[in-house]
Amino acid sequence: MLDAIKLVINNEHKKAFCNLRSWTLIMNAITFLGNSTMIPSQCILRAFTRISPSKYIRDTSFRSYPSRFSSCINQYRNADSDRIIRPTNAVPFCTDRQSSVTAQVVSEARSHSASTTCANDTTLDQIYTKNGLNVKPLVVERLKRDEKDEEAVNEDEKGVKRDGFEGVKCNDVEEEAWRLLRDSIVTYCDSPVGTVAAKDPTDTTPSNYDQVFIRDFVPSALAFLLKGESEIVRNFLLHTLQLQSWEKTVDCYSPGQGLMPASFKVRTLPLEEDKFEEVLDPDFGEAAIGRVAPVDSGLWWIILLRAYGKITGDYSLQERIDVQTGIKMIANLCLADGFDMFPTLLVTDGSCMIDRRMGIHGHPLEIQALFYSALRSSREMITVNDSSKNIIKTISNRLSALSFHIRENYWVDKNKINEIYRYKTEEYSMDATNKFNIYPEQVSPWLMDWVPESPESGFLIGNLQPAHMDFRFFTLGNLWSIISSLGTPKQNQAILNLVEEKWDDLVGHMPLKICYPALESSEWHIITGSDPKNTPWSYHNGGSWPTLLWQFTLACIKMGRPELAEKAVTLAEKRLQADRWPEYYDTRDGKFIGKQSRLYQTWTIAGFLTSKQLLQNPEIASSLFWEEDLELLESCVCVLTKSGRKKCSRAAAKSQILI
Ligand code: GLC
Repeated sequence: MLDAIKLVINNEHKKAFCNLRSWTLIMNAITFLGNSTMIPSQCILRAFTRISPSKYIRDTSFRSYPSRFSSCINQYRNADSDRIIRPTNAVPFCTDRQSSVTAQVVSEARSHSASTTCANDTTLDQIYTKNGLNVKPLVVERLKRDEKDEEAVNEDEKGVKRDGFEGVKCNDVEEEAWRLLRDSIVTYCDSPVGTVAAKDPTDTTPSNYDQVFIRDFVPSALAFLLKGESEIVRNFLLHTLQLQSWEKTVDCYSPGQGLMPASFKVRTLPLEEDKFEEVLDPDFGEAAIGRVAPVDSGLWWIILLRAYGKITGDYSLQERIDVQTGIKMIANLCLADGFDMFPTLLVTDGSCMIDRRMGIHGHPLEIQALFYSALRSSREMITVNDSSKNIIKTISNRLSALSFHIRENYWVDKNKINEIYRYKTEEYSMDATNKFNIYPEQVSPWLMDWVPESPESGFLIGNLQPAHMDFRFFTLGNLWSIISSLGTPKQNQAILNLVEEKWDDLVGHMPLKICYPALESSEWHIITGSDPKNTPWSYHNGGSWPTLLWQFTLACIKMGRPELAEKAVTLAEKRLQADRWPEYYDTRDGKFIGKQSRLYQTWTIAGFLTSKQLLQNPEIASSLFWEEDLELLESCVCVLTKSGRKKCSRAAAKSQILI
């Protein structure tokens, strides 16, 4: 087995290490593992993650330096001793003491989960070796549907009543969609773990579309969950948890601690004697076009984890110690202090669904809305105890500040745009009206024409930075602001009013535009870097993406307007099957199948199915969104008002709701 580990690392990761010396140290460490008590069963689930080469270079420190395992933990404890649960009994990983951390953690984790191995060995939990080093000190249970567990879930505790859902007849389009969705399933050690991004049988160059993307899997997961099939989702959540970056390293551009990969692939690697083994190989953006960091992955993972609990009623998954640690690691990564002045999350360009340069660096709405949703999910899911109370408090404070900031500063309607149009600039004071020094010239003609006359319509802008308001309408961000109640109830209603009023622009022939309007001419040259895939009204630059349909449906159901979603679903249903389930559509009104659009795109298929299911059972839908949380508003710690910082009062909280 150790030979196999060496082989895998040799094949896949040797190139990633900075020098031969570090390589030797890794191999030594693997041999050490061989002497330890960590004897895996027949099928070790190997999850590749990126190891820091820098530490191995320090050969003399390998023994005397705090061990990789304990240094991990110590790092946490120093930084934030209350927030992360340290596995009890854990001992340094790379010392002379011949005790196995893994074995100890195994025994601890066992008490949190029933498990068997890949080969149905019920006596030994599976262990992810993570290249044999820097093991995430937690164990994943056998990822097989455990019927007993399901029975054990008290019916009363089930998050959602499933009455009326069975027996719903599928039409031809839905039947094909289900068949295609099932075809896209990826298995790992004989268990389903996700769905590939696209599966076009005629496509000989799938690029990375043959991988399981975290964000793309969300609609697949919901479709399965809503159909009562939870195994694949549970497997996905646990396997991706094991891929989560565990060590913060800067050298050689390894990912930050807590980062979730953008995607992963199941690779089959040869062993001796015609045998093969499967490994999970994550991509944190190191292979992605443009090397974009998948900031949204962790946020989606948390949102999906909550949805899993709500729909299945199985809350034991989110209560597991490794899952709790995973949530906190993502939250800590997002909540870490930086140089930022705002409660919004500062990110690079292309860090979300729009994973190419599109001028969305800074504080894009999409990330903020997903961040808010993930924080609300985390606040519900983190087990309250002494060690978690600080992070829960931090989350609550951030939620309050974030919603205030977005509601106040991202919202535009006709009146607000008129106000900006008349802004004075260069105001130096605590009570400046034009806090971000926006030059009125930014209010461009398209916006003045486009913004609805009615004060009942408006939207949240795409981005806000010093002297920069990105007035483009980004659909995903606006929809998730509705779903998560990041916007006020009135704003949320107004966003849907805008979509209805601007139906031809935002829906046209195919729901829904990813953003409006497209960048053209010199703006396209400068902002996209002359990206030939993102030409005006194509792909991320004003293309139409059917996968946005399920999120639109959820938002419409939440706001009591399912008929709007039905209209969009009916439109999509007319074309998707005939067009072979494209990834996106081009042109101003979404008439053409996208220039470079993949066909049989899984999240198009799954998004359609999920929309159908949600409409058929709005009661389930209601478990997936959030209502306004008065407690959050009341407990907000600081509000930036015209007169600077001041304490939030109950009255101020109420007034926010009425905005
Ligand atoms: C494209 C999309 C991205 C998606 C991926 C796989 O890169 O921009 O959002 O996750 O394809 O479908």
